Amino acid sequence: MRFDNAVFEAAFGTEKQLPPSDLPEIAFSGRSNVGKSSMLNKILSRKALARVSSTPGKTQTVNFYRLGEVRLVDLPGYGYAKVAQSERARWSRLMEHYFSGERDIKLCVQLVDMRHPPTKDDLQMLDFLNQTGTPFVVVLTKSDKLNKTQRAERLEKIKQELAFLGEREIIPFSSQNGEGVEALRSRIESAIL
Ligand code: GTP
Ligand code: MG
Repeated sequence: MRFDNAVFEAAFGTEKQLPPSDLPEIAFSGRSNVGKSSMLNKILSRKALARVSSTPGKTQTVNFYRLGEVRLVDLPGYGYAKVAQSERARWSRLMEHYFSGERDIKLCVQLVDMRHPPTKDDLQMLDFLNQTGTPFVVVLTKSDKLNKTQRAERLEKIKQELAFLGEREIIPFSSQNGEGVEALRSRIESAIL
């Protein structure tokens, strides 16, 4: 599978705008600022296809990127405290609609910041994916920010924190130094085949 010919397709801000699924999809989910858009750019070998920002809440819409006959979906992040109630409600409706079971979601890439234990929202999202039988993989972001000791410690602890999901492959990832890029690309490829 080629990862170097992606194009931006469209952005959707409300559940009514979201078109029916007509292609296999790979979704990227996680809290605001965890690194979803950066990850997309990295695996697609592009500098700024998806907009990145150091301020949480950058991606507010469901963004479709077309990669041949596959669609990569950048989802707006959750868990950002400074979001108005009305925005939060819009986000919930959008996400509920996206995950309503009518789409051909081949894989949900669930991002968790490698530096910290999963948040309550992360655990809720993971539980939801697990309960609904949505195929997913956990990817630990910003691995470049940890030293060797911290890294070993987090890798050990996360196994316990996510024990409720059973044995799961966990991919450490860095958009900065490229760790995990090949592992994630192959995971996506096998999800689509
Ligand atoms: P929202 O769109 O707000 O939901 O955020 P997002 O999950 O798309 O995060 P985004 O990719 O915009 O990155 C947020 C910040 O984290 C930016 O300042 C990025 O440069 C930084 N960042 C993302 N990935 C990495 C990484 O692997 N390593 C380091 N050091 N910084 C990263
Ligand atoms: Mg984003």
